[in-house]
Amino acid sequence: MKLFLDTANLDDIRAAAKLGVIHGVTTNPTLISREKGDFAAIIREITSLVDGPVFAEVLAQDAEGMIREGRELAGLDFSVCVKIPMTAEGLTAVSALSKEGIRVCCTLVFSAAQALLAANAGARYVAPFIGRFDDIGYDGIEAVASIVDVLADGDFETEVVAASVRSPLHAVEAAKAGAGIATVPPKALFQMIHHPLTDAGLARFMKDWAESGKEL
Ligand code: G3P
Repeated sequence: MKLFLDTANLDDIRAAAKLGVIHGVTTNPTLISREKGDFAAIIREITSLVDGPVFAEVLAQDAEGMIREGRELAGLDFSVCVKIPMTAEGLTAVSALSKEGIRVCCTLVFSAAQALLAANAGARYVAPFIGRFDDIGYDGIEAVASIVDVLADGDFETEVVAASVRSPLHAVEAAKAGAGIATVPPKALFQMIHHPLTDAGLARFMKDWAESGKEL
């Protein structure tokens, strides 16, 4: 399972890109609203920092507006993937933009039925939200597994991007559920590096080496 970073913060993107572990960046209107600068400039800057797709979401709610904004976003850089919400208007936009060769991610997906619609409309990616489903008492990982299952027949090339990932465990469980990609917020990505036994093991190696008096 590939890892994307779920943020619009340029410092976090630089820090994660330096690790060499991220293959794309996803944003949403909330994440963009937290950063300084205008939407297009932020997205362009992100595309210069990562190898891989950069997801930018439309703000219009009607199909015509989504299609117009989607074309504009896709025109910012070849790596931009347009995020469209899972609504009836959204499906019309997913279908129109996909037919133009624009990569689209259908977002705010919570069920296998919605994922099937998105795939049939031509979405390159579907983004089920794990944490937000857990928040209301459902099982977000089970939803990912069910979506992976219904898309597995090979009729479409739609990839599952597990989103609303809140912890390292969510990322691991998404991989076990068969998601091809998980988009992870910076905090959870950096948490994934650490394990107490790694720290203790390293401290022990350094102590033993220092006490031996040997030199390199
Ligand atoms: O980009 C969508 C997403 O990952 C949202 O995460 O934590 O706000 O539910 P969260």
